[in-house]
Amino acid sequence: MGIGIAPAKTILFGEHAVVYGEPGIAIPLWEITTTASFQPFRDSDRKRDFHIHSPMIGLDADFSDIPVNLPLKKLIIRLMNLLHLTEPPAKILQIESTIPIASGLGSGAACSVAVIRAFFDEYHSNFDDAEISAIAFEIEKSYHGSPSGLDNTTISFGKPVYFQKGKGFEILKLDSKLNLIVADTGIQSVTSAVVQDVRNHYEQNQAFIRAIGIIAEKARPAVEKGDVQEIGQLMNENHDYLKKINVSCYELDLAVETARKHGAIGAKLTGAGRGGNFIALAEKPSDMIEIKKSLVHIGAKIIL
Ligand code: PMV
Repeated sequence: MGIGIAPAKTILFGEHAVVYGEPGIAIPLWEITTTASFQPFRDSDRKRDFHIHSPMIGLDADFSDIPVNLPLKKLIIRLMNLLHLTEPPAKILQIESTIPIASGLGSGAACSVAVIRAFFDEYHSNFDDAEISAIAFEIEKSYHGSPSGLDNTTISFGKPVYFQKGKGFEILKLDSKLNLIVADTGIQSVTSAVVQDVRNHYEQNQAFIRAIGIIAEKARPAVEKGDVQEIGQLMNENHDYLKKINVSCYELDLAVETARKHGAIGAKLTGAGRGGNFIALAEKPSDMIEIKKSLVHIGAKIIL
């Protein structure tokens, strides 16, 4: 039975600016994952056509009935070509996920990577992380026209990365685990729309985008060393610039202020913004309880 598992990701520094070639830092979140697996039909199943069952996106359909413009369909056609499959597999592809969708944690890229890995596992093909990331990147482009590549890279390699579009990336080795809280505003937001809006106002945003890049450059050694005070300070500065490029919202601003007021060293939105998730950094694990309680109090959902 072919199985593929992929983690969520959170962007510590540099979302949006990374689309314009500035550096970004992201880490995988292995506590929340997407799993794709090939399941045999049960005797009671009357159907024998390749079937996709993905409750998270409300998809329960035969492959032949899925519209070709759906990124998942495009991905599967791409994989069938790559693996020289003339017939779709006579199985069920089950896709389960604990990653909230459309909320800045890379659920789309995780779905792609899990499905790619499941196909390669099912057909005993050896593809490395870079090849998997390249296929996932192609599919990311159908979700939104100009992705940076940060999501698919972090999720395919499953390691913290320092990424710069057009220049490549480096895997970061972190000296210590960050006491990071990830929480959801519960507001879904469409990455492509937010990215497009930033692009529409590029002239006004240009200086802020550079400033975000400088923050990511400064943050790199702090993230590697686990310098919590410096990371927290830079997270706060990064959030302020994300506000300036107009990708925050009332709920995200309230959440980061609440987290800081209750002991977080730093807090910021993560991902595309205008809803979705935010992250808060605590100095010690024991500080996390108060911060989490304060976030639940304002209606946020704790993810990690
Ligand atoms: O919201 P997400 O998880 O798709 O992250 C988007 C990150 C952006 O920097 C806004 C876009 C990108 O392609 O890097």
